[in-house]
Amino acid sequence: MVNPTPDRLLSRDVFRLLRDLIYDYCGIFFEDDAAYLIQRRLLPRVETLSLADFNDYYRYLRSVSPEARRAELEEIVERVTTNETYFFRESYQLDAFRLEILPELFARRPRGKRLTVWSAGCASGEEAYTIAILIQEAGLFADWDVRVFGSDISRKVLQIARKGIYGRASFRTTEPRVQRRYFREADGKHQVRDELKQQVSFGQINLFDEPMTMLVGEVDVIFCRNVLIYFDQASRKRVIDTLYRKLSKGGYLLLGHSESLINLTTAFELVHLKNDMVYRKPT
Ligand SMILES: C[S@@+](CC[C@H](N)C(=O)[O-])C[C@H]1O[C@@H](n2cnc3c(N)ncnc32)[C@H](O)[C@@H]1O
Repeated sequence: MVNPTPDRLLSRDVFRLLRDLIYDYCGIFFEDDAAYLIQRRLLPRVETLSLADFNDYYRYLRSVSPEARRAELEEIVERVTTNETYFFRESYQLDAFRLEILPELFARRPRGKRLTVWSAGCASGEEAYTIAILIQEAGLFADWDVRVFGSDISRKVLQIARKGIYGRASFRTTEPRVQRRYFREADGKHQVRDELKQQVSFGQINLFDEPMTMLVGEVDVIFCRNVLIYFDQASRKRVIDTLYRKLSKGGYLLLGHSESLINLTTAFELVHLKNDMVYRKPT
C-alpha cells in the first residue's frame, strides 16, 4: 500500500469530481465520508501513471481519448467495488426459488420449454453456479433448454467465475453432499464439474449502461442481489427499469435481503411466497 505524502492527499473538491465520474460510469455513489477510501484505493493508479497528484489524475481522466478513459474507469471500478459473495447465500430466498418459483415456471411454461435465469452482478460466479445447482436439484427441467447467465462490471471477478475454481470461504454455507456432487477437488481447491459449468455462461455488463444489456435476451428470473446497495435512488431506478424490460411476463426479480423497490417503482407485484417475498412482472 502506498502512503500519500501531504501533496498527494485527495482534496474534497477533487474527490467530488472523481465521485461524479464514477457515478456517471456505473451508478455507484460515494458519500463524502468515503473520500479516504477512494484516496487509498486510487493512489496506486496515480503512481502507476506517474502523475503528480489527484488533480492531475482527474485532468488525465478528462483529457484522454474515450477508449483510454473507459479503460481507466474500469481500473477504478476494479478497485472500488465490493465483490464479496459465496455459494448458497441467503438460503430462505433460494428455497423460494427452488420450491416455489421453479415449479410455477415449470407448470406455466412462459417461453415453452426454455428457462433462462440471469445473475446480474454475479461477482466471482458463486451465485450463478448456485442457481444452476438449484435448477438441477429441482429435477424438473431435464429436457428443457436451461441457461444461467452471470454478468458483472468487473473483468477480474469474471475471470474467476469462468475458471470455476473456489477456496473454502466460498463454501461457508454449502451442504457437503451438494459440494461433493457438483465440485471436484483439485490441489486443495474445488472446481465446478463440467456438467454444471456447461449450463452457465458469463459476460461483462455494466448494468448502468443500458445498450450493454442488449447482450441479454428475455429472461424468466433475475437475481440482482447486493448490487444496488452501492447505488443511489436515481441510479437504482434506472437499473430496475432496465431489468424490468428484460423479464418475461410473470418473470421474477430477486433482490438482496436489505434491498427493496420502495420509492423506486410500482411496476412490479410483490408476491408473498411461503419462504420469502419476491417481485414479479405482471402477466
Ligand atoms: C457484493 S457483490 C454481490 C454478488 C452476488 N450478487 C451476491 O449477492 O453474493 C456486488 C457486485 O456488483 C458488481 N457491480 C457493481 N456495480 C455494477 C454495475 N454498474 N454493473 C454490473 N455489476 C456491478 C460488483 O462488481 C460486485 O461484483
